Amino acid sequence: MERGHGDVVHQVVSKLGIKPGEQILDLGCGNGWATRLLAKSAPGAGAIGVDASPKMIERAEALHSFTIRARYEVGHFEKLPFTEKKFDRAFSMEALYYAVDLDAALAELFRVLKPGAPTDIVVDFHAENEASKVWADWGKRSGLEMHFLGRDDWAKRLERAGFRDLAFERVVDSRGPGDPKHFRADVCEPDWETRLKIHQAGSLWMHATKPR
Ligand SMILES: C[S@@+](CC[C@H](N)C(=O)[O-])C[C@H]1O[C@@H](n2cnc3c(N)ncnc32)[C@H](O)[C@@H]1O
Repeated sequence: MERGHGDVVHQVVSKLGIKPGEQILDLGCGNGWATRLLAKSAPGAGAIGVDASPKMIERAEALHSFTIRARYEVGHFEKLPFTEKKFDRAFSMEALYYAVDLDAALAELFRVLKPGAPTDIVVDFHAENEASKVWADWGKRSGLEMHFLGRDDWAKRLERAGFRDLAFERVVDSRGPGDPKHFRADVCEPDWETRLKIHQAGSLWMHATKPR
């Protein structure tokens, strides 16, 4: 994931303006590479990654560094293991569309943020990226219902959860689509044409704020 999404996440994180000492939540952290990047983004900042998969949290802990203020918890989007108003900001990469109950997940995210706190959610699987729709078949085969939403659908869901000051941006991997000679088909990118379309559509970066 870090190899595939690293460029887009670095582009987004470099624009967040993370301040010294901020406490950051990373939703659906996987092996925690973005959690660690967030925690390193300002002096004294700290980040907690949450993931439903104990295996992922085990990997994140194995990659732990004592010089980075990051830690990891097993937990579900729909029932976050934190008190309300705990975090100064939240971030999520390629994860929230897996929520079993997306409205409940966004309500939980809202609950654990401090008033005035921003959240930044990035997804590659979105309706403006038509070619990514095929991923839903893979999800179904693995027993996962993935939310294939466009920016307007996300806006409605975020506003329903209480978020305001919404902003959306498309972020394209600055490294380009890669070299067709080295392209290897898989379930997410069954052919080079699909890879090109997915690259051109880019990631959808959603920014929202919990009102004061
Ligand atoms: C595609 S991975 C992305 C991981 C990481 N953000 C990254 O960029 O490498 C999605 C992650 O979301 C987690 N996930 C899926 N549904 C979840 C849920 N309901 N609650 C918490 N985590 C969930 C999965 O276990 C998985 O690690």
